Amino acid sequence: MTSPTRPGVPYPTLGSILGDEEVRAVADVLLSRERLSQGSWRRRFEEAFRAYTGAAHALTVTSGTVALRLAIQLLDLRAGDEVVVTPQTYQATAQPLLDYPATVRFCDIDPNSLNVDVNRLAELVNQRTKAVIIVHYGGLPADMAAIRELSQRHDFVIIEDCAHALGAEYLGERPGVLGDIGCFSFHSTKNITTLGEGGMLTLNRDDWAERITRLRNNECDAVYRPAAPDLPKVPRAMFDGLAHSSECVGVRAAGTNATLSEPAAAVGLVQLRKLAALTEARRRVAAQLDEALAAHPGVRLQLAPDGVRHSYHLYTMFVRPEQGIVRDRVVERLVQLGVDVWLRYFPVHLLPEWRNRGSGLGDCPVAERCWFEEQINLPCHPAFGDVDVKTMVAALGDALDYGTRS
Ligand SMILES: Cc1ncc(COP(=O)(O)O)c(C=O)c1O
Repeated sequence: MTSPTRPGVPYPTLGSILGDEEVRAVADVLLSRERLSQGSWRRRFEEAFRAYTGAAHALTVTSGTVALRLAIQLLDLRAGDEVVVTPQTYQATAQPLLDYPATVRFCDIDPNSLNVDVNRLAELVNQRTKAVIIVHYGGLPADMAAIRELSQRHDFVIIEDCAHALGAEYLGERPGVLGDIGCFSFHSTKNITTLGEGGMLTLNRDDWAERITRLRNNECDAVYRPAAPDLPKVPRAMFDGLAHSSECVGVRAAGTNATLSEPAAAVGLVQLRKLAALTEARRRVAAQLDEALAAHPGVRLQLAPDGVRHSYHLYTMFVRPEQGIVRDRVVERLVQLGVDVWLRYFPVHLLPEWRNRGSGLGDCPVAERCWFEEQINLPCHPAFGDVDVKTMVAALGDALDYGTRS
């Protein structure tokens, strides 16, 4: 993965490893002369994903963003409803909520996991809470036992943003079934990819699966019942519609086309088979980094609790400002030394659209402290070898000296 033109460790904009099998999968689809949309590869990828996660339904869409948008659409949010969301995530997690009149509350995070702080969450949820949207940040599963317990007590829906969490495990279960709806991304940077863009929803409720199936297929999000007796009869074989033979008794919203193409689904199927090996390789890189950094007094590590398996979409470490270490100087030096650092993610509650809705500095002090002063995401990729790890560790040694206030 190291760039041949530039020494150092680049940030992997392709998070997976693609090879002959993926090329063959695309060629098989193209040469099959079968349809390139809504065909057997999509069905097989969804079936394999369903089996992998243990969900009753797995439904492909075109991105993680679309998966989240559709999941939020299922909530039928109205004025007076409340939704709680983590601020430490990519903007796509919360952005669909801007379309609804519901009140959005950002829940501060735990300074180790960067996932929602369940004590703070317990203070925020109430009988108006319709949903809590959590992220398994970087691939480290959130404290789902506590979140589920709150969900049972207050009857809210748990939406899991699993964009980072494919390959992770939580007490023997996999992300996607730890809440009520799971939303996955197969973007280029993610742990597996479906040709650069793609997403998946996992869920157990049949009625929600039916709504998502219609929504992603350009049918309305509506209440349907069988038969429209007043329409002239056309033989079924002459058209392909699902809804044509139904009567619509209430439109909630328009649908969209979010169909994952057949070549993308075929690649997803191959990538899913490789997931275990890809995750193991990421975990090996992370373990090497952890071991090398553990003794440094200026650093703290992101540690997974017992029974929780981190998928290391992101490798996150923290500097200790109380030891006089200035994070921004450390990053500046790392970049000078050829170690690309992309900090993930600017706290969502401080984005202009959310400030415009009343959020602001001080709302989530832990998320703000971690982001502005402590966290660093080092490059992590399954193809990294000892040389990449050694390069990063050496650069960090230098950068931590450089970043220490004298
Ligand atoms: C936490 C999180 N949620 C959602 C998304 C959106 O996924 P996609 O890029 O597939 O739309 C991303 C992608 O970066 C993400 O990191």
